[in-house]
Amino acid sequence: MLNTKDLLGIKELTPEEIYSILDTASGFKDVLQRDIKKVPPLRGKTVVNLFFEPSTRTRTSFELAAKRLSADVVNFSVATSSVTKGETLKDTALTIKALGADFVVIRHSSAGVPHFLSRLLDISIINAGDGANEHPTQALLDLFTVLSHKKKIKGLIIAIIGDIVHSRVARSCIYAFVKLGARVRVICPPTLTPPEITNLGIEVFHNMEKGLEDADVIMTLRLQLERQSKGFLPSLEEYFYLYGLTSERMRVAKGDAIVMHPGPMNRGVEIESEVADGRQSVILEQVTNGLAVRMAVLYLLAGVKK
Ligand code: CP
Repeated sequence: MLNTKDLLGIKELTPEEIYSILDTASGFKDVLQRDIKKVPPLRGKTVVNLFFEPSTRTRTSFELAAKRLSADVVNFSVATSSVTKGETLKDTALTIKALGADFVVIRHSSAGVPHFLSRLLDISIINAGDGANEHPTQALLDLFTVLSHKKKIKGLIIAIIGDIVHSRVARSCIYAFVKLGARVRVICPPTLTPPEITNLGIEVFHNMEKGLEDADVIMTLRLQLERQSKGFLPSLEEYFYLYGLTSERMRVAKGDAIVMHPGPMNRGVEIESEVADGRQSVILEQVTNGLAVRMAVLYLLAGVKK
């Protein structure tokens, strides 16, 4: 059960709501393994993907999730829309609502845009990534993937490496794993450490070998070069030398640690190919699980009275 019409962030969810999404996703994962993968709950509903930033995984996954639930899907392309003629976000959103959308899945470079749309429209708004704020469905699919391997979250050591300050995935994952009782560590250069991080109930490391010690889950993040001004890092080579995830460094983690990355990956910058494609990597499983998780989110939100 969800109690709000929207999914804006993990911050707003209770542990019970998170588990409800994960349990529902588990049912949809079974559906996706059948010959006929389509089910009817969203028949007659319309989902609009409104992406103001590039995306491969999230946009495709939401489109497929909506289609598997029998909804109609419209992928709004900013480049060919009236946004290029100066139309405001508010007018674009009101137009989409007037055309009969039931859900808007929004990705935007500015933090808070999904919250703005939530107040503006009486239909369901799903945050698919807002600036450096949150990316809640990524964190939910990460929880789902960890649970499928470790059978629990409470007490696990989760090491999140990289560009924490610019990462909405890091923020959503920190909220999610802490809410469910994991021990979260971040490993990052001092320049990529958000000042407020110590209030989140996690440990901060600036050294890979120390931060990875006994980790159960290792999640490395993309360097968000498009959100960085100059001066955060001396060079990409130095970043890989100090913070790159290599098979050598993996040795201090638990022997059965899993390796995660939300994608898109920069091989040779944050992760070595040998690790990305290695036996401990669950990176493609994350993508597969994203479909079931997004079906669960659409399905549960459809059941909330607007
Ligand atoms: N993880 C993620 O958000 O990937 P995309 O940018 O490809 O959607």
